[in-house]
Amino acid sequence: MSDKYAPTPEDKFSFGIWTVGWAAQDVFGSATRAPMAADRAVRKLAEIGAYGVNFHDNDVFEFDESDRDEKISSFRKALDETGLKVTTATTNLFSHPIFKDGGFTHNDRDVRRFAISKVMRNLDLAAELGAEIYVCWGGREGAESGGSKDVQSAMARMKEAYDTLGQYVTEQGYGIRFAIEPKPNEPRGNILLPTLGHALAFINELEQPELVGINPEIGHEEMAGLDYAAGIRQALWHGKLYHIDLNGQTGPRYDQDLRFGAGNVGGAFWTVDAVEEGIAKGQYTGPVHFDFKPPRTEDDEGVWVSAAACMRNYKILQDKVRAFRADPEVQEALAAARVDQLAVPTLAEGETFADLKHVEIDVDGLAAKGMGFERLDQLALEHLYGVR
Ligand code: GCO
Ligand code: MN
Ligand code: MN
Repeated sequence: MSDKYAPTPEDKFSFGIWTVGWAAQDVFGSATRAPMAADRAVRKLAEIGAYGVNFHDNDVFEFDESDRDEKISSFRKALDETGLKVTTATTNLFSHPIFKDGGFTHNDRDVRRFAISKVMRNLDLAAELGAEIYVCWGGREGAESGGSKDVQSAMARMKEAYDTLGQYVTEQGYGIRFAIEPKPNEPRGNILLPTLGHALAFINELEQPELVGINPEIGHEEMAGLDYAAGIRQALWHGKLYHIDLNGQTGPRYDQDLRFGAGNVGGAFWTVDAVEEGIAKGQYTGPVHFDFKPPRTEDDEGVWVSAAACMRNYKILQDKVRAFRADPEVQEALAAARVDQLAVPTLAEGETFADLKHVEIDVDGLAAKGMGFERLDQLALEHLYGVR
């Protein structure tokens, strides 16, 4: 019997190759797994049913680029043999010590110039491999101390970097758009563009804002105590959800990068509801992308169990969300809660503020009227718990 939760190419599941490739070293301990070459990550992800991959330049070849050609050809060979797509690409502007104070906003101008040049070189490879989205996670763009970073100048340098890169992809004719990935902290004490809200505001200041959207990550928004599903729905409203990093998190703490579906399960349910809404409305056309880390406790076999579970959990929750949305009792509860009434413009056709100045309403009647949200949310939970 076919497993209805098995991944299919139509699901467009993609993974950063650095996720399964993480050798599990951390601040407090050395690696528990062997390093993984990019081509093995590609082949194994294809085996478990992934559709595509995302990569940093230095996931494929060394920082000094001494092995660039050889490693790109084995990466490309694995892509060709498996048919896996390169949905997304990105640059490592955070591992090498040269980036210890960031890339685009490093206090040293030479490092800023080098960072932009490193991104441009990997944009060429990204375009060659067919990537449509280029993620920029500014993990080192920030500070530990208030006096060390002139934040207003840092914002100006960040704008300069994105405007320069926007000119580059335009001049080159690359069909690539950028997706800023916000994060509040870690590895820096405070990271610039810490939440999706900050990133959305920043994009408005750019010369070619249409080239830049966001790539919000579940764990990063939850580290800031924010609701990821509501956040990506706001990004969809802005037309700026260009990519998603799905994973799991259990509340504000270090970036756990749990497999999708672990951690905040209720949040995962509403996240799938939000992504499905975006896809259904044609607002989200990117991959269903996972950026997680198999815990340090896992051996190689555990890595693939964890990766497969990201996709399986997405499909299990997708099933539950669809059942919730199709449930006649839910539709009744939605109507009773007047959720559909929010789509009705507050001013009628032709009305202006003058028509509202002395509006008369039944204040006591409306104040006394319940919203019926508890019945609606209990139905959602019962679908999530598997009893409906
Ligand atoms: C993190 C980030 C990274 C980025 C990746 C792509 O480590 O906190 O989520 O995994 O997503 O570097 O830019
Ligand atoms: Mn992360
Ligand atoms: Mn991420």
